[in-house]
Amino acid sequence: MRRKFRLRLNLSQKIVFSSLAIFLSIFILCLSIIGHWFTNSLEQNIRQEVASFAERVYQDFQHEQEDLETQVNLIAGRETIILAIEQKDKQKLLQDLLPIRTILNLDWIKVVDANGNTLLDTRTYSLVTSKLLDKSITNIASSGGGFIDFIDVEDSLQVLQVVIHPIKSSIKIVGGIIMGNLVDESFLEQIAVGSSKDIVTTKKDTIIASTLPNIKEIKWQPPSPNSSTIKTSIQQQAYFAKSIVFKGASQSLITTILYPILQLEKTQSSLWLRLYLLFLLGGTIVTFIGYLIGNKITRPLQAVTQIAKKVTKDANFDLQAPVTTEDEVGVLAISLNQLIQQVKQLLTEQYQAKAKLEAYNQNLEQKIKERTKEVEQKNLDLKNTLNELKQTQSQLIQTEKMSSLGQLVAGVAHEINNPVTFIYGNVEYAENYVKDILQLIQLYQKYYPNPDSNIQNVMKEVEIEYIIQDLPKILTSMKVGAERIHQIVLSLRIFSRLDEAEFKTANVHDGIDSTLLILKHRLKAQTHRPEIQVIKDYCEMPHIKCFAGQLNQVFMNILANSIDALDEAWEKKLCQQPIIRISSECENENICIHIADNGTGIPQKVQSRLFDPFFTTKPIGKGTGLGLSISYQIVTEKHRGSLQCISLPDRGTEFVITIPIR
Ligand SMILES: Nc1ncnc2c1ncn2[C@@H]1O[C@H](COP(=O)(O)OP(=O)(O)OP(=O)(O)O)[C@@H](O)[C@H]1O
Ligand SMILES: [Mg+2]
Repeated sequence: MRRKFRLRLNLSQKIVFSSLAIFLSIFILCLSIIGHWFTNSLEQNIRQEVASFAERVYQDFQHEQEDLETQVNLIAGRETIILAIEQKDKQKLLQDLLPIRTILNLDWIKVVDANGNTLLDTRTYSLVTSKLLDKSITNIASSGGGFIDFIDVEDSLQVLQVVIHPIKSSIKIVGGIIMGNLVDESFLEQIAVGSSKDIVTTKKDTIIASTLPNIKEIKWQPPSPNSSTIKTSIQQQAYFAKSIVFKGASQSLITTILYPILQLEKTQSSLWLRLYLLFLLGGTIVTFIGYLIGNKITRPLQAVTQIAKKVTKDANFDLQAPVTTEDEVGVLAISLNQLIQQVKQLLTEQYQAKAKLEAYNQNLEQKIKERTKEVEQKNLDLKNTLNELKQTQSQLIQTEKMSSLGQLVAGVAHEINNPVTFIYGNVEYAENYVKDILQLIQLYQKYYPNPDSNIQNVMKEVEIEYIIQDLPKILTSMKVGAERIHQIVLSLRIFSRLDEAEFKTANVHDGIDSTLLILKHRLKAQTHRPEIQVIKDYCEMPHIKCFAGQLNQVFMNILANSIDALDEAWEKKLCQQPIIRISSECENENICIHIADNGTGIPQKVQSRLFDPFFTTKPIGKGTGLGLSISYQIVTEKHRGSLQCISLPDRGTEFVITIPIR
């Protein structure tokens, strides 16, 4: 977290924060040392001050006493006073001493004669009714003694500081004078005037006078006069205190100088407050100076950084960082500028290399394209050549096959034709002759019912009656047979069409029939299947111009395939009765021949390849795969017609040959 914060700060902030942190640490340390030193020395000073004040109070008290003694001495030496005492002139004494009491601000003046009789007792108003316990000092005064003492006021805690002095005439002691002042608040205030300290006077642990309000007559044990300034408390208020002793002849008073600690604490607080203010002011100044320094250091750096950023962002390598100083920042700016120049140079080289590479690539690609095109063209040529070769080969094979077959058929037809013509031409004569002979025999039988026994035996032997009946039948059947042979020969000649190799008018139905005749042996019932039923549905069709022999070849291929398919279908028990349906129709300018079978049908994937040369599904040796490709060529190329195949697998196939009528 702290690390993150540090990372997010910019340089000037870092400088400000660092200097602030260093300053604050040092400042706090110094302040706390100074503050403690100050407060301690303040306390020491106050203790010292209290002690010195106590000393001063003591000195003042001594001076006061000495002054009073001097005054008393002067008064006691006055002739008028001596005379008045000797004469016991109380009036005179009053006249002389009353103004003195007022002037010297005394609380009590008492004059006694040598016998101890009171000649004058003038007191301040507060003491008028009080009974002073002054018997012993009155006695001493009358006997000519002199000293300083404290006397008590009966039934009260008031104490009077008194100075006793003998009054002497030139020859004897005539009496004595006692002058006293109450040790009260005004007395203490007089001593403490102009100081911030308080004074408390105690007698036997009871406060008899104090500059502090409302603490008179309470019990309080003052610190020992022998101890240095210590801390004490009166009525929950803390003070520094130092006690001194005002000594009298019969008793002493302990007077304590008090300095309220609260005041010290106030002074200390105000000192701390000032120190805090100083701290704040110092912090502000340091922050401001840190900010100025940070700014001064970072501004050139920022300028360099800005340029570095801009160069990276815009990829503008023409920019240069300003070099304004010769310090590290200046060196940095120069280095950055050099770096930018180097990068620019590198990039330029890279661009050039890339452009060259691209040019090479393009060239190479172009060359590859050209080469590929050439190779593709060559491939295409080769393919075409191969196809042509294949076609030529298949055509050659088929033509060879068909021409051999045609020649064979034509030869056979020719050879058979002559003898058959003899038979066919003579059988009718033979029939007539036989009829005549049989008629003759019947006439012989009629007119010669009993011929020679040898004739009768031969007649019996040869079953002449049966011959007479059967011979015409034999002749008729021979005639029929000869006629059929004649038909077959005709069909064979039609099929071979060796004489009709060129484009000429022909009857298509004759072509189909002759083909069927050639294939008759295959249509017949076989050991493994019944006879294939051929249903013909021919229309009235004109003779059309065609290559009749080649068309027969087409019928031959299609019908042979149908027979193969029916063989297979029967084997696979796909049909009840093998049927080939041949129908024809004339449509406008075309004739259509449909050859359909209920054989195996052709699977969909095979249908597209049917007309490819050498495509066969038949076992090797049985099919060459040329039949349909040749047929397709004959129909489409030679006759400008079309050859279509419609097939449902396992149901059957129909080929439709369409040829334009010309
Ligand atoms: N009527 C049909 N019924 C089912 N399949 C057929 C039919 N006619 C053609 N085919 C299929 O077409 C293929 C190609 O026939 P095509 O006549 O071109 O060659 P082939 O009969 O195999 O061999 P060839 O005719 O050269 O002796 C056959 O192998 C056969 O699978
Ligand atoms: Mg075939």
